[in-house]
Amino acid sequence: MQKKRRIKKSVKIIGSIFIITCIALIMLVNYLFKINSFDYKLGQLGYSEEDIKIIKSNLDEDAQKQVLEREYDVNLPKIITQKYFIYDNLDIYLEVAKEENLDAKKVVSLVNSNAYKDHYTDIQTSDYTKDELILVNKYYQLGADYEIEDLVDVSTVYAYSGIRLRSVAYEAYKELFNAAKEEGFTIVIGSGYRSYESQEAVYNANKNNYGTSYADSYAARPGHSEHQTGLALDVSDYDNRTVDFEETEAYQWMLKNAHKYGFILRYPKDKEDITGYSFESWHYRYVGVDVATDIHNLNITYDEYYAYYLVS
Ligand code: DAL
Ligand code: ZN
Repeated sequence: MQKKRRIKKSVKIIGSIFIITCIALIMLVNYLFKINSFDYKLGQLGYSEEDIKIIKSNLDEDAQKQVLEREYDVNLPKIITQKYFIYDNLDIYLEVAKEENLDAKKVVSLVNSNAYKDHYTDIQTSDYTKDELILVNKYYQLGADYEIEDLVDVSTVYAYSGIRLRSVAYEAYKELFNAAKEEGFTIVIGSGYRSYESQEAVYNANKNNYGTSYADSYAARPGHSEHQTGLALDVSDYDNRTVDFEETEAYQWMLKNAHKYGFILRYPKDKEDITGYSFESWHYRYVGVDVATDIHNLNITYDEYYAYYLVS
């Protein structure tokens, strides 16, 4: 009888030990699982639950893993949620955000457009293969020998004399001109294609008359002007020649309609820090109807559009 009770007791003890061991094992496995989980590691780095959600929904798996290789950065969740965030630029965004104390949207704009750099530094040759979508600015330049095959003379119906443009831009401009004319505006071209040498003359004249800082805010240095592509043009309202174009109704018409014919206002107001130029109500660039319409609707500069939609 006593033996039987002892056996019963031993079974109970062994059973209890077994159950406790099982529970301990489950807890250990759970713990190991947890400390090896991605969320836990991100939390340990310093990211909040909200941050972790953002990281997981805005980065692909490889990029998520790479966040673990980095130190905690308070700006990272703000940067990666930006509409025009480009993953390859992440290091630079974070550097600029830390140094400049700017909001994330501005950081992404400045980095995508290269404008976080000093003007005319780190200059690359423009990608000629982009053809009518070529980017020329203070960081992308054309050689003095950049060639255009389809330069044509513009009739004095549409322009002052001696103006040339690439034919694709000219054909589009004629349509724009006629549409504006129907609304009572005569929008004429005062400058179109400019060779490397003539741009040099324009820049130097500005510099000699008004100083380097003024020249750099309104004129491109030779090799850096869109006018050298034959795709850019400066306009004025023929019936209000003495008035700033910005003050005319013709300008308002251009703001509403230029994109329908493939043109964008290239140096808009309030975007000076991105384009590197003061507002130029008169300077339009041909990029084709689709791209011009996108840019008009998105309300971004061509520099930003190019980085996000045409390169990355
Ligand atoms: N005015 C523009 C920036 C140019 O010179 O190309
Ligand atoms: Zn111009």
